[in-house]
Amino acid sequence: MKRLIVSLLGIFVALTIRANEGMWLPFLLESNIGEMSEMGLHLTAEDIYSINQSCLKDAVVGFVDLDKPFLHFCSGSVISAQGLVITNHHCGLDVVRQHSSLQNDYIADGFWAMQMSDELSANNVGVCFLRWMEDVTGKILQGVSDTMSVKRRNELINSNISQLEKAVSDSTGLKAHVDAFYCDNEYYMSVYEIFEDVRLVGAPPMSIGNFGGDTDNWVWPRHTGDFTLFRIYADSANHAAPYSENNVPYKADNHLKINAKEKHEGDFALLMGYPGTTNEYLPSFAVEAIQDVYDPIVVDMRGKSIEIIRKNMRANQQVKIKYTSKAASLANAWKKLQGERNGLKNKHVIDKKRALERQMGDWIAVDTLRKAKYGSLLDNYAKEYAVYKKYRRAKMLVDETFYNSEMIDLCSDIRAVLKGSSSDEEKRAKVLAWLRDFYADYDLTTDCDVTENLVDEYFVNADKAHVPSSLQSVKENAPEYVAALLKKSLLADSAKAFTAFRNYTEKTRKKIENDPLFKFTAEIDAVYSNIKTPMQKSLKKTDEFQRRFMQLQRECFADKRFFPDANSTFRVTYGQIRSFHPSDAVVYSAFTTLGGVFEKCDMDVYDYTAPDRLKQLFEAPDFGPYCNADGTMPVGFITTCHTTGGNSGSPIFDADGNLIGLNFDRVWEGTMSDIQFDADICRNIGLDIRYALFIIDKFAGAQRLIDEMEIIGD
Ligand code: ARG
Ligand code: ASP
Repeated sequence: MKRLIVSLLGIFVALTIRANEGMWLPFLLESNIGEMSEMGLHLTAEDIYSINQSCLKDAVVGFVDLDKPFLHFCSGSVISAQGLVITNHHCGLDVVRQHSSLQNDYIADGFWAMQMSDELSANNVGVCFLRWMEDVTGKILQGVSDTMSVKRRNELINSNISQLEKAVSDSTGLKAHVDAFYCDNEYYMSVYEIFEDVRLVGAPPMSIGNFGGDTDNWVWPRHTGDFTLFRIYADSANHAAPYSENNVPYKADNHLKINAKEKHEGDFALLMGYPGTTNEYLPSFAVEAIQDVYDPIVVDMRGKSIEIIRKNMRANQQVKIKYTSKAASLANAWKKLQGERNGLKNKHVIDKKRALERQMGDWIAVDTLRKAKYGSLLDNYAKEYAVYKKYRRAKMLVDETFYNSEMIDLCSDIRAVLKGSSSDEEKRAKVLAWLRDFYADYDLTTDCDVTENLVDEYFVNADKAHVPSSLQSVKENAPEYVAALLKKSLLADSAKAFTAFRNYTEKTRKKIENDPLFKFTAEIDAVYSNIKTPMQKSLKKTDEFQRRFMQLQRECFADKRFFPDANSTFRVTYGQIRSFHPSDAVVYSAFTTLGGVFEKCDMDVYDYTAPDRLKQLFEAPDFGPYCNADGTMPVGFITTCHTTGGNSGSPIFDADGNLIGLNFDRVWEGTMSDIQFDADICRNIGLDIRYALFIIDKFAGAQRLIDEMEIIGD
């Protein structure tokens, strides 16, 4: 009976939750569109991506730093005919910070431009539109043969890529970029238009946009109003142009309609944007290394640092202000990797990978050609991976110890600049700019406390060969010894440091490098490069094995649809709004409401404070047309869409392509989705677009922005 119930439950789950693994390429959706329609989509593949007609992709944007124009740190979407763009609050936070001061603290109080002329320029931030994407594998692999060396192969590929990018960029005036897919087996070109004049339009206060803070980060149920508004400006011909007062709001080829109707469990959800990195096709031994070696290093070493920083933040208000965002970024990966590790273990991913490898072994064994091509692949890969793993572990330990010590990290960067070939003037300017940034949010005591602890851990974990000789001689006193170096360094005294670098010439370099901390950092940098050089050599080999292992998987499981790993290119993913079952006896429903904000709200706990005005609106209640039929105000929801870092700000669409939410996070239990997606526990977290509308309209009173949008209500 028990077995029957279990298998019935299995069928039920299979029928209701579709395995929505995959981040698909927009121009190759033909193989997905049937399944998408079965799941509820009402659109055609051409409605999503087309080069002949306006389509959804024309309203989806990537956010970039202008100096790294192809690395999309977040995603967003255009929601008006006047270039209004919505993304996450945590994506726009740096811009808000650029414009904040003690007098105008937009981080704490929020910012709303009540007219267009109040919109604030976002320095160094660009917004890009994908104009088209195409398979250029043939062109890039021209001249490449199976018999050539890996070195020659890579040289040829890189040269083919540069030529093609240049030719297309020159002939179109757009920005062409070729990326490798399927572990370097295929190459696709993305052609972008990048807009440089982007302005901040509105951001809620931190207590809404980051409500729950680090405590709730990666956690469901979530009550964060994680959105911010920007506007794209163009020249008078509607083309991308550098910032100018004469620029006008950009009219994009498409903008999204907003669906402000109530959502329901099981509703279809479509999501687009720029996911950063995933590793879905690794062999079992690489997953084992992630689970048992790499993730624990970050989790263990950062855990203690975060504890120390938080202790100092509690004791000192000044430290609290300086370290809030540093602690947040340390904690973001720390928390995510714990979830990843637990998920990999609980879902027995290593065993599942091993089972697949056995199937591949059987497939190879029955055919001589397969044996010749793949017979020894996995064994050789495993051997090389063991070499790589050793170096990667050693490198991570140095990174997490010494380069997570703020002053040593700065010192190492300065050393690299001073050794470089730029002029004294350039060196001076660069270092002085770093010093200004560094001291703005630095606390020597906290750095020393953190460093002492990290060095202690390093001693326990690192191979003796990677312990710098000066530390070997002081042995158990090493932590205090390094902390003392920090305190004695000229960098410990900002006035001394500024003087030294203001007067920097090649002649004073020796004097600076004789500073005890600079000497010690030189030792660390040497240890690091002794690890990094052979690691990179080994990485080239493991990359080549992974390329062939990917080929093997695609040949062996020829009926399976493979999606390429995320690589910061445009992707489409789809799923449903779904509650889930994170652990025994626990069920999480798919929606949160404003009531939950006030269940959590505690004005004595920084992460859980909420503005009075929000409380008044809640208590009135005054939700305008944005609430559910039962009078509750929606805040967040979860779906089964497959997402990763970079997908923050991605639009979530309904079955008709209207905007229903913004992606901003994943549930902790499912962060293993970067290695293996599991529909049981992997959920992305979205902000209900109605909560954003309510905040813009009722909380901020920015009616002019609501008037720009096309909102579909009940
Ligand atoms: N975990 C989310 C994403 O990677 C949001 C991070 C921002 N929020 C925070 N409280 N730190 O990266
Ligand atoms: N929060 C992530 C981002 O900033 C999204 C994720 O990792 O799920 O892109």
